[in-house]
Amino acid sequence: MNELKSILETNSISVSDLVSLLKSNGQQQQQLFQYASEVKKMHLGNKVFFRGLIEYSNICRKDCYYCGVRQSNKTIKRYQVSDIEVLQAANLAYTQGFGSLVIQSGETENKTFSRKIEKLINQIKTIGNGALGITLSCGEQSEDTYKRWFDAGAHRYLLRIESSNEQLYRKIHPQNKKHDFRKRIDALYSLKSIGYQLGTGVMIGLPFQTHEDLANDLLFFKELDIDMAGMGPYIEHKQTPLYAYRDLLLPLHERFQLSLKMIALLRIIMKDINIAATTAMQAIDAEGREKALLVGANVIMPNITPLKYREDYLLYEDKPCVDEEADACKNCLEARIHRTGNTIGYNEWGDSPHSMRKK
Ligand code: 5AD
Ligand code: FES
Repeated sequence: MNELKSILETNSISVSDLVSLLKSNGQQQQQLFQYASEVKKMHLGNKVFFRGLIEYSNICRKDCYYCGVRQSNKTIKRYQVSDIEVLQAANLAYTQGFGSLVIQSGETENKTFSRKIEKLINQIKTIGNGALGITLSCGEQSEDTYKRWFDAGAHRYLLRIESSNEQLYRKIHPQNKKHDFRKRIDALYSLKSIGYQLGTGVMIGLPFQTHEDLANDLLFFKELDIDMAGMGPYIEHKQTPLYAYRDLLLPLHERFQLSLKMIALLRIIMKDINIAATTAMQAIDAEGREKALLVGANVIMPNITPLKYREDYLLYEDKPCVDEEADACKNCLEARIHRTGNTIGYNEWGDSPHSMRKK
């Protein structure tokens, strides 16, 4: 354990050290998990925060090769949740004691959409006198739109870089202006300069992805000085181009283990950020999110999208909780979280100490 600490607690941890820990198994992996859990306890206590997740729309102008809601997938029904349903879901989140909401959406970039989200933020902010924190995850937008949404009251933004290796990014996206790696990086910096608490993340176990890529992703998060991270295993989807490369993939349980190691390492190198136990973890392992909590994650995003839309937001196959009402979700989650020795931070925004410290 001491050896592990001395490797991890240097100021400039190397890619090769991270790679060797990402490849660890057996006792070394157990020590890594144990240490990450200690770091979490020391810096964040044992509190888990909920974010009620509204999957606002599956309409998307992009064509990411991995994603089930890509524009070219003509087999799905496109939807946008109505204003009234968003507000009902937000009220539900409020009464359940979820301190925050996430509005996640396929990417639409036009004035109507931008104004619509702005109006919804304003309306959500009237619930309980601004009680709910609002996180947005609506893709790449103009700086003006990001500013409007921030001024309306959203204070956190999630935009996954998906992979910080430009070559790999180009392999998993079409080569055109809509899917420009540099633009995505610029968007991250723009969100940060506007004042959002910034979240990003990557998929783990993508075809063509190496352990070096993942190690560099971790260093990229540190360099960007993010406040939150959402990472999970890549899960193939039949109606997407990357499905053709499924033979290159690690077996699911290995992708899952690798994801746990990514979470543990990120917790150790960025001690006080928020890290989500993502739905994709649960898609592979029924207890995936709990296992993520045990190695450093501290945020869970219960799905509060109206049920009738859920099966149209399948980013990947076998997505869990497609038919579970939000309150059923809450009860089941509560018990699961308590079993991990964590408690739940009800009625709190749950901003990361990292972001508070920066203030
Ligand atoms: N497997 C796992 N995660 C995926 N996402 C999209 N498609 C997949 C997939 N096939 C993730 C992306 C995106 C987030 C909303 O969902 O990282 O940013
Ligand atoms: Fe919608 Fe990638 S397919 S953002």
